[in-house]
Amino acid sequence: MQLRNAPDRWGPVSKLLHWTIVVLIGWLAWLGLTMVDMPTTPAKIDAYALHKSLGLTLLALVTLRLAWRLYAGAAHALSGTPRWQTRIAGITHAGMYVLMFVIPLSGWLFNSASGYPLQWFRQFNLPALAGQDAMLAQSARLVHEVGVWLLLALVAMHAGAALYHHFVQRDATLRRMLPSIFRKRPRTPAPRRRMEH
Ligand code: HEM
Ligand code: HEM
Repeated sequence: MQLRNAPDRWGPVSKLLHWTIVVLIGWLAWLGLTMVDMPTTPAKIDAYALHKSLGLTLLALVTLRLAWRLYAGAAHALSGTPRWQTRIAGITHAGMYVLMFVIPLSGWLFNSASGYPLQWFRQFNLPALAGQDAMLAQSARLVHEVGVWLLLALVAMHAGAALYHHFVQRDATLRRMLPSIFRKRPRTPAPRRRMEH
C-alpha cells in the first residue's frame, strides 16, 4: 500500500489524520462552549481536564500532520480547476493550519498565565508557557475564543466547497479524501450472453 500522497490522490496517513482531526475539533469546540457555562462542580473540573488533554492531543496530531504533509507531499488540484479556486483553497488550508496551532497554544498560554497546572490525561505534567499574569491570561483567552470562531468559519467555507465539488461539479475532490471504501469502482461489464440461434 502506498502510504505517501501522490499528485492525483491522498494517501491513507493524510486521510486518517484529516478525519481524526475533524472529529477532535468538533468535540473540542462543543466541549469548550458547554463547559464554560457549567456550574462549579467536579464534573466541570473533569470537563476542563478532558478539554485540555484533547486539545494537547490535537496539537500533537497537527504537528504530525504538517510534518507528514511536508514529507509526503500533497495532492494537486484536479486538472481544469481555475487558478483563483486553487489560490482560495490554498489560502483556506494555510489559514486552518495556522489556527490549528494558534488555538491550542493560546489555550495552553491562558492556562499557564491563569496559574493552573496542565496534565495530559493524568499521565504527565506539561510545563507552563508563562508565569501568572492576569493581562496575558485575558489576551490569550480572547485569541483562543476568536480563533475558534475564525476556524469554524473557514471550516464551513471549506466543507461547503468540498460538497459543491461533489454534488454540483460531480468531480473526485471529496472522494479522493474519503477512505478507499468510498472509491467509485470501475464498472465491470455485464457478462455477455451467448447468442442463441
Ligand atoms: C483546537 C483545539 C481547541 C479548541 C477547538 C478549543 C475550543 C475552546 C472553546 C470553544 C472554548 C470556549 C470559549 C468561550 O466561549 O469562552 C474553550 C475554552 C477553553 N479552552 Fe480550549 N480549545 C482547544 C484547545 C485547548 C487547549 C490545548 C487548552 C489548554 C491546554 C485549552 C484550554 C481552554 C480553557 C482553559 C478554556 C476555558 C476558558 C474560560 O474558562 O474562560 N483549549 N476552548
Ligand atoms: C475541522 C474541520 C476540517 C479541517 C480543519 C480541515 C482541514 C483540511 C486541510 C488543512 C486540508 C488540506 C490538505 C491537508 O493538508 O491535509 C483539507 C483537505 C480536504 N478536506 Fe478538509 N478539513 C475539515 C473538514 C472537512 C470536511 C467536513 C470536509 C467534507 C465535507 C472536508 C473535505 C476535504 C477535502 C475533500 C480535502 C482535499 C482537498 C483537495 O484535494 O484539494 N474537510 N482539509
